[in-house]
Amino acid sequence: MVRRAIYPGSFDPVTNGHLDIIQRASSLFDELIVAVSTNIGKDPMFTADERVEMLRDACRHLPNVTVEHFDGLLVRYAANRNANAIVKGLRALSDFEFEFEMALMNRRLDEGIETVFMMTNAEYSYLSSSIIREIASFGGSVEGLVPKIVEEYLKRKLGSS
Ligand code: PNS
Repeated sequence: MVRRAIYPGSFDPVTNGHLDIIQRASSLFDELIVAVSTNIGKDPMFTADERVEMLRDACRHLPNVTVEHFDGLLVRYAANRNANAIVKGLRALSDFEFEFEMALMNRRLDEGIETVFMMTNAEYSYLSSSIIREIASFGGSVEGLVPKIVEEYLKRKLGSS
């Protein structure tokens, strides 16, 4: 049986913290699908196509990783893709409550799909897409915190060279 996992998120934009989880999860599963969605509570800076493109570029070196966009319920998408696990990254205790709620709700919706939590690398525990967007919006450097392609996309989006 192929062990296929889904790593879902907004990825607005992908950070080196996400990439660390992707890299580590890709060694645990035969196939990892990074699934870009739009969180209905958030107004994204980048379009879904842009977020997919940045991720595809950043994951080029990982042969068992693919990047897709999905709409609708995560568990339905995971079942359509014949995935047996959903991977989520945990940074701090503050992530726990919301992730716990989503994991339990997803299990209620489909008990055949297991949510697997991976602890972030300590180096990235303070990193989030929203903090990256904020730093970049005010002209601060995000070098070393995001892949190179994301730095370029941010510069283009925010109108500086
Ligand atoms: O990176 P984010 O914003 O924390 O990702 C959240 C995401 C996209 C994984 C979550 O909002 C999600 O699963 N959306 C799909 C819709 C869905 O299934 N919602 C019910 C979750 S219990």
